[in-house]
Amino acid sequence: MKKLNWGMIGGGEGSQIGPAHRLGAQADGRFTFAAGALDHRPEAGRAYAQSLGIAADRAYGDWTEMLAGEKDRDDRIDLVTVATPNATHFEIAKAFLEAGFNVLCEKPMTMTVEEGEEIVRVAKASGKICSVNYCYSAYPIVRQARAMVRNGEIGKVRLVVTNFSHGHHGDATDADNPRVRWRYDPKMAGVSGQFADCGIHALHMASFICDDEVETLSADFASTIPSRELEDDAMVNFRMAGGTVGRLWTSSVAIGRQHGFDIQIFGETGGLRWASEQPNQLIYTPVGGRTQIIEKGEGGLHEDAKRLSRVSIAHPEGFPLAVANIYCDLADAIAGETRDGLPNAEAGVRSMAAVHTAVASAKNDGAWMDARPPMFR
Ligand code: NAI
Repeated sequence: MKKLNWGMIGGGEGSQIGPAHRLGAQADGRFTFAAGALDHRPEAGRAYAQSLGIAADRAYGDWTEMLAGEKDRDDRIDLVTVATPNATHFEIAKAFLEAGFNVLCEKPMTMTVEEGEEIVRVAKASGKICSVNYCYSAYPIVRQARAMVRNGEIGKVRLVVTNFSHGHHGDATDADNPRVRWRYDPKMAGVSGQFADCGIHALHMASFICDDEVETLSADFASTIPSRELEDDAMVNFRMAGGTVGRLWTSSVAIGRQHGFDIQIFGETGGLRWASEQPNQLIYTPVGGRTQIIEKGEGGLHEDAKRLSRVSIAHPEGFPLAVANIYCDLADAIAGETRDGLPNAEAGVRSMAAVHTAVASAKNDGAWMDARPPMFR
């Protein structure tokens, strides 16, 4: 198997998501970390890239220098990850796709729906892969849940209930801390705070497991800490194209919750439950039957769950390994395999449309609105 060259923009020293990408991309030895523009401070980015083993001539000061330096090389990068703050994703991802690079973009993919639709079009025209890092969907046991739904094992899905709630921004005395404040500042974060940051992981997960798309939604947003311009709590009701009823709660002021991302799927003949704090286990209850725990790595799992179970049964499956599964699928896709679990730019723009619709609905007393991007109506 040919080893692929990989580059990253953002994810510099001390960043939150950078280490998960470095571990994830290199976990299976399928990518070499060949180039990077890792920091908004050019010198710090160059120095950190070299400390991670990148050659001096490929340790770039910014992304425009990286694009110019990489595009005509024979050994140019096969994939670039965009792990910078949200407002920069669009111009970087677009420029690299137009220059013929495969892209993995962090969520939210863009700031507006129009930008998201532009990325979908540019990716199609370039023939290159544009994936979005909805990495929770790459846990093996989440793939098992999706395969069970596809296989009819819980019948037609009636209801999906999900939440992604934590309490790490719940201290009003810390609301002015610069690391917290920008997330609720429209100039930095865009139209939405908590829903665009965490809620879209839960919304994507609902679509992913149910194998269906969100069509309409109604939202109630609250800034429970009044100095915040954007919401720190949201309740979003939605309906999927196939008729499934959806309920989503996301919050950053739920003190006592650490990383509360979980999802329950209720079908006509059974129910499923998955929680990110116990990512190895899927709880399954057939109608009229006993509740069972399906463990990652056990016999009889669906093929997609088996393929991505890299740690044997009873050993914990870490978050970076879910990111590693995204890279594993990207390497396969770059080599020409079909990997339909890989979250694509269509998934990215659907999230942006949901964010903008939720903002409009919340301002309009929770009115039900069409949540699909215009290009998919
Ligand atoms: P951060 O603020 O911790 O780090 C951002 C990094 O990007 C820093 O190293 C900074 O120097 C660098 N940077 C900023 N502007 C740059 C530019 N123009 N060129 C090159 N480097 C630049 O941010 P964090 O939390 O790592 O978030 C980055 C992105 O990842 C965000 O879009 C966020 O939503 C996403 N994210 C996704 C997660 C997931 O579960 N998929 C989890 C955490 C973050």
